[in-house]
Amino acid sequence: MNSIEINNLTKKFGSFTSVDSISFNVKQGEIFGFLGANGAGKTTTIKMLCGILAPTSGDATVGGYSIAKEPNKVKLNIGYMSQRFSLYNDLSVEENINFFGGVYGLDGKDLEDRKEWVLKIANLRGKEGLLTESLPGGIKQRLALGTAVIHKPKIVFLDEPTSGVDPISRRNFWDLIHHLADEGTTVFVTTHYLEEAEFCNNIILINAGKLIAEGSSKELKSKHLKNKMYEVECERVVDALEILEKQPYIDESSIFGNNIQISVNSLYESTKQIEETLTGQHSIEVKRIEEIIPTLENVFIHLLEKHNNGSAN
Ligand SMILES: Nc1ncnc2c1ncn2[C@@H]1O[C@H](COP(=O)(O)OP(=O)(O)O)[C@@H](O)[C@H]1O
Ligand SMILES: [Mg+2]
Repeated sequence: MNSIEINNLTKKFGSFTSVDSISFNVKQGEIFGFLGANGAGKTTTIKMLCGILAPTSGDATVGGYSIAKEPNKVKLNIGYMSQRFSLYNDLSVEENINFFGGVYGLDGKDLEDRKEWVLKIANLRGKEGLLTESLPGGIKQRLALGTAVIHKPKIVFLDEPTSGVDPISRRNFWDLIHHLADEGTTVFVTTHYLEEAEFCNNIILINAGKLIAEGSSKELKSKHLKNKMYEVECERVVDALEILEKQPYIDESSIFGNNIQISVNSLYESTKQIEETLTGQHSIEVKRIEEIIPTLENVFIHLLEKHNNGSAN
């Protein structure tokens, strides 16, 4: 069953197209990763799906309600954690929970039960009186998620929930997201940390407002990266990259950390070829050449290069 169905959704600001006729579906209970660089159109899309921003054209149904025709119904049936965490810094932890509970019509025992739950997942039991401003980033983030789902919505939108927090907090936060999904909540999450996309059941990649790839991590890798990839550790990395880029047996090359990663085509025979190019022809010493298993980051770099060169597939 689809929880979200998006049809040719478009948003223009003046003559600038921020979201360009995107269409896709999100299934009930899945963790759906919405990926793209800064400025790709992620927040604009989320705001439309939450009923906060009206589309210029196209439509989507979220939990069965049209975002163009019934934005207020959409708003009541979802949870939304905005990019700057929706909390009020000058309120205490408990005041924030009460506020969001009130917005969603919770009171009495319902509110008390959910408050307990939010405090538990945010590790804030006994610390209800703390000023929200004083909380560490990771804790604040969990409190923001808790308040966003205080009314147990079936669908929750999280806009870059893990940006700017430390790796351990990020990991813990993803455990929480999985927990929500296990309970049947659809989680629509944006991130620019590509490694986090591996935690999602399905992924969309957008670039300059256009959808450029969709599928599971496994599908994206097998569909878009058919070539073998190697990592080359060598001297004079920048010179070496320039040389490798010109070789007919190499399709793509980029620098990763201190090394070069390349994808090779059918003209490639063996690692000796790379050594011959670098050491034989250019006296660049090669320390290591190793085949690597492509990551989603490799897939996305490949797709973005293609897209930006005007030949998306
Ligand atoms: N209210 C607005 N007016 C004009 N341009 C906007 C507005 N909101 C967003 N944009 C532009 O739309 C593009 C996508 O922005 P956004 O959706 O925030 O991207 P992301 O969340 O992926 O970083 C950007 O180029 C941004 O400058
Ligand atoms: Mg954004």
